[in-house]
Amino acid sequence: MEIIQTCDEMAMACRVAARPLGLVPTMGALHAGHLSLTTQARCDNAILAVSIFVNPTQFGASEDFSSYPRSMERDLALLEEQGADLVFAPPPEEVYPAGFDTWIEPGAVAEGQEGEVRPGHFRGVATVVAKLFTIVRPDRAYFGQKDGQQVAVIRRMARDLNLGVDVVTMPTVREPDGLALSSRNAYLKPHERQAAPVIYRALCAAEQLWRSGEQDAGALRSAALAVLRSELLVESVDYVRVVDAETMVGVDAIGEQAAMVAVAARVGGVRLIDNVVLV
Ligand code: PAJ
Repeated sequence: MEIIQTCDEMAMACRVAARPLGLVPTMGALHAGHLSLTTQARCDNAILAVSIFVNPTQFGASEDFSSYPRSMERDLALLEEQGADLVFAPPPEEVYPAGFDTWIEPGAVAEGQEGEVRPGHFRGVATVVAKLFTIVRPDRAYFGQKDGQQVAVIRRMARDLNLGVDVVTMPTVREPDGLALSSRNAYLKPHERQAAPVIYRALCAAEQLWRSGEQDAGALRSAALAVLRSELLVESVDYVRVVDAETMVGVDAIGEQAAMVAVAARVGGVRLIDNVVLV
């Protein structure tokens, strides 16, 4: 396994590598959710490349960039076990040198949900992913459904800009009690951790109602909200949305197109997001 810190060296290593090449972009602090992506990418490709980069431009001024969990040595050991060939772990100034001033601005797909609550977030995500795609030129890139709007933004970008990368989406990996794995779960205090599966229960309530024949998005929303409100440790709900799974535009009723129910809420002080796709 080769560990590379500069863009030029990474580009060179990828240019001479065997094909197909699969890329798994991450911010490190790896858990079983990330490893489901690397496992699939390992199976599908001759070469597995993984990036570990806590991307400063996707964090808002009041967000947790400096305290975001970092565990490089452990991550590298896990990736070695996964059979990764190339690990790209650049310092911030390598990705954003002085004077950096060109951005990818996603459109409507990035406006609602996370885009509304975290202005500029998807501009940062799209820009760093476009840079990674340009440096690595992967045949396939792997993302988790856990961040459902992020995948939609990246799919749209890859299509709109003819990036020639096959974007592969992998299902959300959960704890046995339903909580979606996330690096931010580490911030939960024990009693908050116990309460946190309420988010998945809320999504399941909406999904069950839909399976029983309800098509009205408002009814599905209300069902999810009622579950969230039943838990005292849910301090605030940023949103519960029912959207088209591809465009992220809100829908009034579930029709032929796949829909996604998305939730963002604070359990104790910790902001968690999750979603289910109704297909
Ligand atoms: P990060 O949060 O480290 O996540 C890296 C990848 O792992 C993303 O595609 C994310 O959706 C996926 N992932 C996280 N938790 C998951 C889970 N429980 N099940 C399945 N997949 C999961 O997402 C980012 O980093 C960044 O925004 C990035 C794309 C790397 C750009 O900076």
